Amino acid sequence: MNSTTINDKPNRNIFGLRGIWATIVPLFSITLLIALILWLLRKFIEGPFYRKTNRIDGKVVIVTGCNTGIGKETVLELARRGAKIYMACRDPARCEAARIEIIDRTQNQQLFNRSIDLGSLESVRNFVARFKAEETRLDLLVNNAGIMACPRSLTADGYEQQFGVNHLGHFLLTNLLLDHLKKAAPSRIVVVSSAAHLFGHIDREDLMSERRYSKFFGAYSRSKLANILFTRKLSSMLQGTGVTVNCLHPGLVRSDLNRHFRAPRWFLGLLSIVSLYFVKSLRAGAQTTLRLALDPSLEGCSGDYYADSRRFPLVPWARDEKTANWLWGESERLVGLAHNVEQSTARDDDDDDESIKTVVVSE
Ligand SMILES: NC(=O)c1ccc[n+]([C@@H]2O[C@H](COP(=O)([O-])OP(=O)(O)OC[C@H]3O[C@@H](n4cnc5c(N)ncnc54)[C@H](OP(=O)(O)O)[C@@H]3O)[C@@H](O)[C@H]2O)c1
Repeated sequence: MNSTTINDKPNRNIFGLRGIWATIVPLFSITLLIALILWLLRKFIEGPFYRKTNRIDGKVVIVTGCNTGIGKETVLELARRGAKIYMACRDPARCEAARIEIIDRTQNQQLFNRSIDLGSLESVRNFVARFKAEETRLDLLVNNAGIMACPRSLTADGYEQQFGVNHLGHFLLTNLLLDHLKKAAPSRIVVVSSAAHLFGHIDREDLMSERRYSKFFGAYSRSKLANILFTRKLSSMLQGTGVTVNCLHPGLVRSDLNRHFRAPRWFLGLLSIVSLYFVKSLRAGAQTTLRLALDPSLEGCSGDYYADSRRFPLVPWARDEKTANWLWGESERLVGLAHNVEQSTARDDDDDDESIKTVVVSE
């Protein structure tokens, strides 16, 4: 009798559904919910995209390291918006391939393949000399090129490779181009740094990592911290000139930057699959650079650090003025700019204030 009563009860689930629907509907709802969460998470990982449609027709632009990665994606978008772009690359053949691809995709013919090896001060000077013979102004300089975590090696001038390429090469390039940037004011400098600066330390006794070399937490992080200190010092020197300079972390981006990373093949395979979801696409990785380069609302903003297209506060060691001043003076000496720079060293009796005041006399 009892068992009959139980069997007579309708087999309903919490949605009030019966039979096969009692299985299908909850399953479908849960799948939809998971898909929505994954989609939102992916959107969050990619970060905001630069949506304003402003054009920069005819503006003269230099982007370093743009045959691949974030730099190439940056050039693609700037070309779409009509810029005249000097692609400053180390490998002329790879640069040409990228240039032709971007011309095909944007129909912008104003793209030029120019050689630069940021690990050679002579090459940087040659690049600038050729550029200045071709152009009288520069509206936008994007210091993008970089290398990460390579085994210890030296630049053509004998400096530690990561510090030499990521910081010193760009330091010289920017300084040599300041007069052209000033002529084009309002003009902009965008410096691609990294969140790795958080681990960075400017070791005054061992700037070239001769005593101790750590490829990521040491040399790479130091070079990226140097990018930020350079940005802040330059920003203060450029006050009132109409030239702004800001720096950024592009996010964790799927690019060739990890080319020196060594691990078992299976692990690299697994990592590349996981990165398809958890790491930014190149297009997403270029968005903060694009905002700093293009956004009219940032006109006049200078000396700041951005990530995911938003301004971020800096840790104390990345806004340390004394270190920035010291690094500036040392960088001038290392790249051979000191003879063009009038330096007055203002030292207080107090050992604490040993700031070096520098006035750039243009080349
Ligand atoms: N990817 C990330 O997750 C990430 C995160 C934080 C910061 N960043 C920064 O983003 C910037 C762009 O990196 P990416 O991810 O696009 O890496 P990438 O794909 O490896 O591109 C780096 C570019 O820099 C060029 N380059 C390297 N050494 C050079 C030299 N001596 N002279 C001239 N060009 C040189 C490379 O040229 P070759 O192809 O000829 O080597 C390449 O075009 C770097 O400054 C990097 O530190 C990237």
